[in-house]
Amino acid sequence: MLITIEKVFSPDEVAALREALERLPWHDGVATAGSLGRAVKHNRQADEEAAARAGLVDDILRRLRATPRYVSAALPNRFYPPRFNRYGVGETYGAHVDGAVMRLPGTDSLMRTDLSTTLFLSAPDEYDGGVLEVDTRFGVQEVKLDAGDLVLYPASSLHQVTPVTRGERIASFFWIESMVRDTDARVTLFDLDEAIQALTRERPPADPILLALSGVYHNLLRIHASC
Ligand code: NI
Repeated sequence: MLITIEKVFSPDEVAALREALERLPWHDGVATAGSLGRAVKHNRQADEEAAARAGLVDDILRRLRATPRYVSAALPNRFYPPRFNRYGVGETYGAHVDGAVMRLPGTDSLMRTDLSTTLFLSAPDEYDGGVLEVDTRFGVQEVKLDAGDLVLYPASSLHQVTPVTRGERIASFFWIESMVRDTDARVTLFDLDEAIQALTRERPPADPILLALSGVYHNLLRIHASC
């Protein structure tokens, strides 16, 4: 299931992120591709240490943790530090699956990748092509969002970025190890939380049905969470 969240960053914030990105060194993206990805990955990535030093990684993580709908959908336990990529004309990342387990940079810790996120930093009218295509059980879904919007999708999905034919596509991407590994359980918890949030807008905080449903939500999370 794909979940999109709009306006995680405002246009001014996106502009500031883009300005900071322009000052970083960029490398061939092939350096961080897996053995299969190497043949199909043609893009550039911002230097990871420089991005962290510039505060961009923390800026994004802080915002995600403060975005209730993102937290509810991902139920994050650990984040892989956000990376940044850019695709110019002719650049693409052919069909691939992201690695299931990744070593957290600068540590000996391994994390499981349950979910992938792409945060779009270029507006759709800045480029042609560059569509994120995600293979889901309901068929291929095409994703091209406004700058500042993000998409969350299962890291197990086959996916690709189609060739850019005009302009440039800049984005941030990263992985999440969720407290709830099972996708169906996580999606059901998200649906329940969305329904509770909708009720919260209509009913007083001490409403007994609301309290009962909140209890059910947390007890289900307690059953499914491993962290
Ligand atoms: Ni990927």
